[in-house]
Amino acid sequence: MTATMAETRPLSRRDDFPAIPDGWHYLDTAATAQKPRVVIDAIELGYGRDYATVHRGVYRRSADMTIAYEAARQRVARFLNARSSDEVVFVRGATEAINLVAQTWGLANLKAGDRILLSLLEHHSNIVPWQLLQERTGIAIDVCPLTADGNIDLDAAEAMLTPQHKLVALAHVSNVLGSVLDAKRATALAHAVGAKILLDGCQAVARIGADVQDIGCDFYVFSGHKLYGPTGIGALWAKGELLGAMPPYQGGGSMIDRVSFAGTTWAPAPQRFEAGTPHIVGALGLHAAIDYVEGIGLAAIHAHELALVAKTREALSAINSVQLFGPADSAGIVSFAIEGVHPHDIGTILDEEGVAIRAGHHCAQPLMEHLDLPATARASFGIYSDEADVDALVRGIERVTRIFG
Ligand SMILES: Cc1ncc(COP(=O)(O)O)c(C=O)c1O
Repeated sequence: MTATMAETRPLSRRDDFPAIPDGWHYLDTAATAQKPRVVIDAIELGYGRDYATVHRGVYRRSADMTIAYEAARQRVARFLNARSSDEVVFVRGATEAINLVAQTWGLANLKAGDRILLSLLEHHSNIVPWQLLQERTGIAIDVCPLTADGNIDLDAAEAMLTPQHKLVALAHVSNVLGSVLDAKRATALAHAVGAKILLDGCQAVARIGADVQDIGCDFYVFSGHKLYGPTGIGALWAKGELLGAMPPYQGGGSMIDRVSFAGTTWAPAPQRFEAGTPHIVGALGLHAAIDYVEGIGLAAIHAHELALVAKTREALSAINSVQLFGPADSAGIVSFAIEGVHPHDIGTILDEEGVAIRAGHHCAQPLMEHLDLPATARASFGIYSDEADVDALVRGIERVTRIFG
């Protein structure tokens, strides 16, 4: 994951992204990334030339598709530096991955009296699955506070963690504030009390990447559509020994060893967790997306987005009524509010200017409550973003402030 050729070529590769017309400033990449031509081509070929099911067919086309599908799994494993592709489960996205861990590992290993630690900035998909588990098991959920600039406060986490804690589940990069977790320290803190750690890598995979062996975490999850890949596909990575011991999630075809009315046995991981016909072509698209992102280089992408964040924060902080959230070194995300203006109005006026931002609670209502706001406006960058996007955003915000006096 190094910036090989990236420093010498521009990252703003608009031509690769057919759904970004000239004059449109897409600043909602944290919600979902636009798709490069290579991903669209992989999907088109997957359905239009190579299509067949996987794992079942005895005919050549199906065998080839199985090879391609498993090659995508290997690509994800390499991307995360997993020890083996057997540690990678294809899921619909991060939301399904976290629910899977909660309902399998969680149900099998947690009981009343156990505690888990989340943080104040988590996305609802890293809160609600644990609350569902709480209803079924009686576990307690603790919430780690944030530092003043919007990082997860790991000193506080250290003070809060006890041997009763069995799991820590944290965002690697915040979808609202862009703050980057010190994932290695968080992992060391969790392991020091004997807890497992799950990292929600949704925003991290397209910005800073993840090396699960280096971090040392136990579970890592992400969604393909935030990594310039298709929707409906994502990955759960878990340490082999954990995944191997986890009971199934959903039952059905493909996840079994043998079925009889006297009793059914399960396939080994990862197939045990992939009941039903999978999102075959989604996996091929994800493969193409990872190739594309790594071809540019995550270090270069991160540096590019840091520069755009710095420019945006500098310009917005010069406007009196704008309040900025999150740390200065946010990974590609700038959340802000304008005094006396609802974020939806900001979003609507910016849309008239051809600038697409997100306005809302960003599926992080506990964080909004902490900020004492119903919502924020959020601009988020990607490979294709450039200074013209920042200029258009700033012009649009100046117009908002003129309109609202
Ligand atoms: C940090 C974070 N976690 C989880 C999710 C959920 O991802 P998905 O809706 O693709 O499952 C998102 C999506 O916004 C996110 O940003």
